[in-house]
Amino acid sequence: MHEVIFYQEAFVSYLKQFTKKKEPSTLYDPINYILDLGGKRLRPILTLMAAEIFDVDYQKALGAALSIEVFHNFSLVHDDIMDEAPLRRGEKTVHEKWSINTGILSGDAMLILAYQLFENYDTHIFQSLAKLFSKTALEVCEGQQYDVDFETRNDVTIPEYLKMIEYKTAVLVGAAMQMGAIVAEASESCLKNIYEFGKNLGIAFQLQDDYLDAFGDPRTFGKQVGGDIIENKKTYLYIKTLEFSNDLDKESLVKLFSSHPNNPSNKIENVKQMFVSSGSAEATKKAIETYTNKAFSVLEELNISEEKKTLLKDFGMQLMNREV
Ligand code: IPE
Ligand code: IPE
Ligand code: MG
Ligand code: MG
Ligand code: MG
Repeated sequence: MHEVIFYQEAFVSYLKQFTKKKEPSTLYDPINYILDLGGKRLRPILTLMAAEIFDVDYQKALGAALSIEVFHNFSLVHDDIMDEAPLRRGEKTVHEKWSINTGILSGDAMLILAYQLFENYDTHIFQSLAKLFSKTALEVCEGQQYDVDFETRNDVTIPEYLKMIEYKTAVLVGAAMQMGAIVAEASESCLKNIYEFGKNLGIAFQLQDDYLDAFGDPRTFGKQVGGDIIENKKTYLYIKTLEFSNDLDKESLVKLFSSHPNNPSNKIENVKQMFVSSGSAEATKKAIETYTNKAFSVLEELNISEEKKTLLKDFGMQLMNREV
């Protein structure tokens, strides 16, 4: 096993030979733009780590890791259209830089490229990867649709929210790890456990994403701070604030979350204050910890060395305390 930074660098150099100039440039430039913009590379790192956890060289998992990252970036291009987001990784989103139509088609092409990357694997591994990928990609669509449907509802429950983030985000983190294990031809029980680890980590990760969307530092966050509040997203922060508030505050929050003001800065400030004063911000931090620990407890089921477990735990802790 190597340190996390090793896998990240190995992945980025592999990615470099994928993002070559191609025609028509109006299709491929946006693809290369979003892939080269950076990001944490969390999912491919996890794929490479999972391969080595189950004792094959990370290099064998580079194709699967790239597929996951291309799919993730495709989902971001379309997500940014759906969320009307202006910023991604500190730069313009694809649809802002080009157009919505460009975002749609370049995104579609990325989804196909992601599948194509499995072609380098032998038949039985190819089949397992493709099967997991199709199931996961459909779930991501389902999660994204719940996320949008919830914008216009004010009775979303915590279990509904948790299912939504499990689908839109966590299953892909689980799948990223399971793909590493598939490439390593690990046992069924290892495949299941590593998926559960990734899924719980993914839930914690999306909770943290929601928290940072409200409370992140605009100078470093790389996305529009308050974007979820502008779009009336029903996050853990929002649902818990409703739960913890008196009738009067509840009513004013529901009202704020049915509006789309031209200048949203007051709305953002008021809502953030309610998130904090209600105790919801604290409760969200707690939930992040709970799901991170849930992921760690799955590790106990895995028959791998303590050194490997520690590496995964350190990475999980890093994610929980991230600012970006
Ligand atoms: C953003 O994912 C979308 C979510 C599922 C929260 P990341 O936070 O992993 O984005 P990058 O790839 O590091 O920019
Ligand atoms: C993203 O959720 C989930 C997917 C892209 C599938 P968000 O909408 O919260 O992600 P960000 O905050 O824009 O990165
Ligand atoms: Mg978004
Ligand atoms: Mg979204
Ligand atoms: Mg978000």
